[in-house]
Amino acid sequence: MLHLATVTDPDWARRAIEHLDRILLDHAHLEKKAAGNAVALLFQYPEHAALMQPLSALAREELEHFELVLTHLTERGIALSRLPAAPYAGRLRAEVQGKEPHRLLDLLLVSALIEARSCERMKVLAEALETDPAHARLARLYRGLLAAEARHHRIYVELAGAVFSASEVAARLAELTLKEASILATAPKEPRLHNG
Ligand SMILES: [Fe+2]
Ligand SMILES: [Fe+2]
Repeated sequence: MLHLATVTDPDWARRAIEHLDRILLDHAHLEKKAAGNAVALLFQYPEHAALMQPLSALAREELEHFELVLTHLTERGIALSRLPAAPYAGRLRAEVQGKEPHRLLDLLLVSALIEARSCERMKVLAEALETDPAHARLARLYRGLLAAEARHHRIYVELAGAVFSASEVAARLAELTLKEASILATAPKEPRLHNG
């Protein structure tokens, strides 16, 4: 279960397929950011032993995804270049409360929601790509990532549960899930994994 309040409009995938090079470039940056986010948590919360092994493994897996997407970029003749950050993750992170222990709870749950939306978007994209044999290779890439991204979502929710009570996690997750949906609903319409 992905804890998302909304589902992606299939029209998003149609528009994404018209800009696959940009979607792949965006995706490469997102995998790198996902790894960096997990590593940042390792540095910021070393006193939480329960977080260390799972976040380290998750960071490694995100870097493997980054390398996989890089391979696809290279095959398409696209150089990795800078891309201005889409507003989605920044707006979601702005919801993180500043004071501990709420900050840690929110960082874990915001990470969980970003993983969930990435997974949901990749599934929609995989399904759209699978309708055209010309996109078979990219369809396999996205189909192949779904299980890992769903697991990452689950890991972040479980890590929140390792530090906070089940009722605290459920209550804050419900709030942030609604925020995530409203942020996405007002995101720009440019072709990005986390745009409208
Ligand atoms: Fe990933
Ligand atoms: Fe992930």
